[in-house]
Amino acid sequence: MANLIEYERVRKIYNSGNDEVIALEEVSFGVAPGEFVTVVGRSGCGKSTLLKITAGLLPVTGGAVRVAGVPVQAPLTNIGMVFQSPVLLAWRKALDNVLLQIEARGLNVGAYRKRALELLELSGLRGFENKYPNELSGGMQQRVSISRALIHDPSLLLMDEPFGALDAITRDEMNLELLKIWSESKNTVMFITHSIPEAVFLGDRVVVMTPRPGKVAEIMTIDLPRPRTTALRDDPKFIGYMRKIRESLGVQ
Ligand SMILES: Nc1ncnc2c1ncn2[C@@H]1O[C@H](COP(=O)(O)OP(=O)(O)OP(=O)(O)O)[C@@H](O)[C@H]1O
Ligand SMILES: [Mg+2]
Repeated sequence: MANLIEYERVRKIYNSGNDEVIALEEVSFGVAPGEFVTVVGRSGCGKSTLLKITAGLLPVTGGAVRVAGVPVQAPLTNIGMVFQSPVLLAWRKALDNVLLQIEARGLNVGAYRKRALELLELSGLRGFENKYPNELSGGMQQRVSISRALIHDPSLLLMDEPFGALDAITRDEMNLELLKIWSESKNTVMFITHSIPEAVFLGDRVVVMTPRPGKVAEIMTIDLPRPRTTALRDDPKFIGYMRKIRESLGVQ
């Protein structure tokens, strides 16, 4: 089947004053429909840049990105996006923050209420629908923002370090929740992370990026069974993948 996303020799140069920063150089790979691809690399290697280019929020300097065969030239409206911080509206309850996505799209809010409640329940937020963001923990707020990104059932979900601010235990739990939701929806996911174990635990494939300018150092297929379980983290294969990625990143 044809790839849903196709990166072809993508280059990105930022110009600020006389300064040029080469953020991405010759990035080429594809993402299949329904695939969960994680991207791992050091800070500043161009991961967020790649995601913003995919969403049509930034233009490329060279090369091309195609989504469903169409070159990305303007912001994509039919995708879901999750950022590092939850960006919820403080004066709206959890449920109403999820439904914001529906309102913004001019869809019938009443028709999506049931689905919003289902997503919140699936994210472990049953009973918290009517709480305001300041009554929720950081992890719970992020679950609300993930539910919001999924409510219109986007075929493509772009996530930029959504769990970066969470403690390790909550993060592991969120990984499991996310996989549960993904296995139900079967959408395509591009997930950016700093965390090597997170990249391996979630991904069908891990794209390892070099330090700036960001290039693809290696693409690793993660041959571990699904559903992924916590016990897999101790599996010698899991540990082997982590070692290979550390080597690829040049981590001492
Ligand atoms: N708007 C901008 N103008 C100029 N340079 C930028 C801009 N945005 C990013 N950069 C530069 O491009 C490079 C890649 O940035 P990017 O945010 O994509 O990195 P990243 O891999 O997401 O890093 P992190 O893991 O810290 O989030 C960095 O060197 C950064 O300084
Ligand atoms: Mg970033």
